[in-house]
Amino acid sequence: MTSPIVVIVITAAMALTVPSVNGQTELRPILPNSLLNYANPPLPAHFSLNGIRNADTTPNDNPTSDAGATLGRVLFYDKMLSQDNSTSCASCHAQSRGFSDQDRLSTGFSGGLTARHSMGLSNARYYEPNRFFWDERAASLEEQVLQPIQDAVEMGETLNNVVEKLSATDYYPPLFERAFGSRDINSQRIANSLAQFIRAMVSYRSKYDQGVAINFSNFTAQEEQGRQLFNSRQTNCRSCHNTDLQLMDQARNNGLDAANADNGVGNGRFKSPSLRNVSVRAPFMHDGRFSSLEQVVDFYNSGIQDNPNLDNRLSRNGQPIRMGLDAEERAALVAFLGTLTDNEFLSDSAFSDPFQLVESELPNTGELSRPLAIAAILALLLSEDSSN
Ligand code: HEC
Ligand code: HEC
Repeated sequence: MTSPIVVIVITAAMALTVPSVNGQTELRPILPNSLLNYANPPLPAHFSLNGIRNADTTPNDNPTSDAGATLGRVLFYDKMLSQDNSTSCASCHAQSRGFSDQDRLSTGFSGGLTARHSMGLSNARYYEPNRFFWDERAASLEEQVLQPIQDAVEMGETLNNVVEKLSATDYYPPLFERAFGSRDINSQRIANSLAQFIRAMVSYRSKYDQGVAINFSNFTAQEEQGRQLFNSRQTNCRSCHNTDLQLMDQARNNGLDAANADNGVGNGRFKSPSLRNVSVRAPFMHDGRFSSLEQVVDFYNSGIQDNPNLDNRLSRNGQPIRMGLDAEERAALVAFLGTLTDNEFLSDSAFSDPFQLVESELPNTGELSRPLAIAAILALLLSEDSSN
């Protein structure tokens, strides 16, 4: 009963109903139907202790909202923020690496290298001096987030062009409206939403966080030994990487070099990001000089340099301290740093790339003709049946 005509018609109809044959694809943000919770994550109790609460840099005029951080998430992953649409913030700040970069120096939009190593962003929200970059040159997160866009190496774009590119899409105006109440797109709103997204990157689900309330009874003996060493006078780690977020309270000189190759904030002083997720952030330090935490611990143990500006937490009688840790103790410190890894944060879809390759929304003849094609097949089959 299958006549050649029917075969031809069915084949033609199938070709027409596969939209991707001639359809165009484009990258679009695919977001969940209801807003995710960025504004009020269920933080454990230690986040309300003074040392952490006072360090919160959220300003009164830009509180984090779910819609604002959602817009910030889309912007963070959008390559349109760079001159040639090749590079997004995430190109140098990878979620699986605590939002830092595996390379010592990062590659910008046209192949140039950044002057310093990328910084991890987990808990960037909590830095009491409210200054950003290793050398603290940005006076707020709102100010910081616009700089990579305009940086000649990183993204090389102008804010005017970014505003124009975003305005030409169909998805940004509604995202701005939901975040800020109107469809206007401007650099202040871009800055505010990016800053909100970064402040939403609160990492609070590490083994360490779970241990705080239960006196670290979840730790192995080695991790506990490392924790005690980290908090001890012997190493003084905690006197600089302080509170349950291992935060610095100001930039300091930790004696990487005898003479400052990079002056940082001045006198070779640098800020360190919170050590949350540090185990997945290699390489380490502002120039990415150490490729493992073992090397970092070896450095602190026996390699601190006699820098004239060395912080007094790492010197004694005018000399760099020698910690005298044996191999077991050094391994314990590294194991302790591993308890600061927050795997839920590193894989939380709320912080992941929302862009997906999808069929473009342009009118698609294949889709439109599907009902017609099916009707044609049915008509033919029916007419075949009745003619037999
Ligand atoms: C080409 C790589 C690259 C791109 C793209 C990039 N960054 Fe960075 N980011 C870096 C480097 C390198 C540093 C450290 C630079 C320094 O301190 O001199 C940094 C530092 C930061 C810091 C400071 C963190 C702290 O605790 O002080 C923030 C925040 C940040 N970037 C956010 C962003 C945002 C938002 C974007 C997109 C608009 C972005 N970055 C794009 C490489 C990049
Ligand atoms: C005097 C203050 C001070 C003390 C004490 C100190 N640190 Fe640091 N730490 C810093 C500074 C400052 C940086 C950033 C330096 C830079 O990049 O130039 C840093 C960076 C780090 C980093 C790299 C962070 C990153 O994102 O690359 C790790 C890991 C670290 N410290 C662990 C430790 C450990 C473990 C101890 C104890 C053995 C310790 N620190 C003691 C000040 C200190």
